[in-house]
Amino acid sequence: MVSATVMKALVGAESGGYLLDDIEIPVPGPGMMLCQVHAVALSPYDAKIVDYSNTPGAVGGCDFAGIVVGVGEGVTRFREGDRVLAVTFGLNSSDKTAGAFAEYALAIEDLSCHIPENFTFEQGCSMGLGIATAGLALFQTSGLHLEIPLSKSAYADEEKPSFVLVSGGSTGTGTMATQLLKIAGYTPIVTCSPANNSLCESYGAAACFDYRSSTCGADIREYTDNSIVSVFDCVTDAPTMRMCYEAIGSSGGTYIALEAVTQVVKYTRRDVRADWLMTPTITGTAVTIPGLYGRPSTPEHRLFGAQFFLLAERLMKEGGLKNHPLDIREGGLAKIPAYVNDLRVGNVRGKRMIVPLIAA
Ligand SMILES: NC(=O)c1ccc[n+]([C@@H]2O[C@H](COP(=O)([O-])OP(=O)(O)OC[C@H]3O[C@@H](n4cnc5c(N)ncnc54)[C@H](OP(=O)(O)O)[C@@H]3O)[C@@H](O)[C@H]2O)c1
Repeated sequence: MVSATVMKALVGAESGGYLLDDIEIPVPGPGMMLCQVHAVALSPYDAKIVDYSNTPGAVGGCDFAGIVVGVGEGVTRFREGDRVLAVTFGLNSSDKTAGAFAEYALAIEDLSCHIPENFTFEQGCSMGLGIATAGLALFQTSGLHLEIPLSKSAYADEEKPSFVLVSGGSTGTGTMATQLLKIAGYTPIVTCSPANNSLCESYGAAACFDYRSSTCGADIREYTDNSIVSVFDCVTDAPTMRMCYEAIGSSGGTYIALEAVTQVVKYTRRDVRADWLMTPTITGTAVTIPGLYGRPSTPEHRLFGAQFFLLAERLMKEGGLKNHPLDIREGGLAKIPAYVNDLRVGNVRGKRMIVPLIAA
């Protein structure tokens, strides 16, 4: 346990944005661990949430890695001293202590993994949000509902012929999805800038298509012989959704996105089910973000998450899941607001931005 009672944390400011403040170190409740944070990952999610749904006084950040320094009641898989990576959802109006951008952060046991020996904290902290987001989108019942061998000791060894399109293959979520699809026996194909073709192929993409080409959707449909039924769109603007719809074969299919889908595109094909997800539902509790982003509680997502993080832990240990390329930035918590701005203006491409909080 830690002897200090106060820590530095980046919290939502009354006037908007993030503010470096001194706050009380939280106490881990049942099923949770308190961790000393060694590194955090930043993603566009952190920019959007602070811009559109800031909660003054709540700790920010989603992805962290660190060392367990205290365990709550009922925790069985972790003990003090363990190296851990976790996903949490910061700037949270229903729990201001959730959040990663702090000297100490709370990890939910179900949504945490032991960091494999060959991973640094910087690599570890880049995994959690991707595991949760790609896992829900691809394998949970309200997502694409693809199959992954959750309970088998070995993963699929036979290639299934089915193609799955990952739109935004060079996003952090995209490289995670591509790896998971390949492990589950599907054939992932992706869209990306041509400069990122080799990056996407190194994560398992069987083919890459340039999303800036006006024939991108038609090219994918031809390449896959009109057979695509499953699309995971990590980009989700209207032109991208339209391109994905063009790629889906004539028997229809399912399109899952990470932002609200464009209704005008949605109604162009009644044979395509279109939906989008909010990753925080993986905690099982209601998502209290206003407007379209709110969600009721989904205990089934939490159950899925508990199983899926166990599987991800095993895959990482066996070398089956690797991290997105890293862009490691110095300066600690104080520099994070400036780095979030780089994400806001789209300055980070093909890399996950990492900020170490404790020198290696
Ligand atoms: N709903 C949720 O709960 C949730 C959860 C997590 C993430 N998200 C959202 O999911 C999106 C992806 O997040 P991320 O962290 O994975 O992104 P990221 O790694 O920061 O993505 C950066 C990449 O986006 C690619 N890109 C931009 N426009 C594209 C387009 N039209 N087609 C294909 N690729 C394009 C660029 O690829 P190239 O360099 O190859 O051009 C760039 O390298 C973000 O909008 C994020 O806010 C939502």
